[in-house]
Amino acid sequence: MIVFDDREEFSESGRAKAMEMAADPEVRQLDRDITAASDRHGYSYMWEWLGLPIIQMPTDVVLAQEIIWRTKPDVIIETGVARGGSVLFYSSMMRLLGRGSVVAIDIEIRPHNREAIESHEFADRVTLIEGSSVDPMVLGQVDEIVAGKERVMVVLDSDHTHEHVLDELRAYTKYVTPGQFMIVADTVVEDIPVQDHRPRRWGPGNNPKTAVHQYLQENPGVYDVDEFCNSKLLMSSSRGGYLQKR
Ligand SMILES: C[S@@+](CC[C@H](N)C(=O)[O-])C[C@H]1O[C@@H](n2cnc3c(N)ncnc32)[C@H](O)[C@@H]1O
Repeated sequence: MIVFDDREEFSESGRAKAMEMAADPEVRQLDRDITAASDRHGYSYMWEWLGLPIIQMPTDVVLAQEIIWRTKPDVIIETGVARGGSVLFYSSMMRLLGRGSVVAIDIEIRPHNREAIESHEFADRVTLIEGSSVDPMVLGQVDEIVAGKERVMVVLDSDHTHEHVLDELRAYTKYVTPGQFMIVADTVVEDIPVQDHRPRRWGPGNNPKTAVHQYLQENPGVYDVDEFCNSKLLMSSSRGGYLQKR
């Protein structure tokens, strides 16, 4: 029996369907509605990765897995550690790849969170840095860690104000190597109503998506916005935030 190898067709059809879906106004509206309604119940605060809370939407985690497997970074830099789940996600992916390390920065790493991360069996590849992600002292430490690395990916998930994310984009773009991703989290803030139930310093008009737009406008040709990644996401925190360095 001759079995037709349809892998290429399958992946092409997935891409085409994602683009169609992204242009479907009914899907877009339903997505905005369920994302906003579930946010009122803290949907992104309910998940764990290997036992630690990961403050993400599951679709974004699955997509990050695809990106990491495909691009095989030597180092992943993340700003915004919180309770450690995302740090363990990245370090466990590195373990699966059999290489690489994670540098994670947070302005405040509470002792119980640091202990939970550092005592975890998947934390062997992690360096935690306490300080503001844009503090020159912190950036100096990052410089030393990534020096000479061929493939560096960055995830920005700290203070979500326009100003801070723009500062981060300006400071961290130099680390991202060609072909690797800069993932800017919480772009969804632009697309859902003000989070009155959870007061924040960011909101529509002042958030990671507005910072990404300004950065891309001021720096054309640095990143491609990955249309397939951004199109296929539903119930995502970071749609529009998946940028691939040229
Ligand atoms: C959304 S949480 C990070 C969630 C985490 N990445 C996860 O997926 O579980 C944001 C974190 O950013 C930290 N943060 C706020 N301002 C910061 C800054 N200027 N520099 C570094 N971290 C900051 C906060 O302390 C908080 O832990």
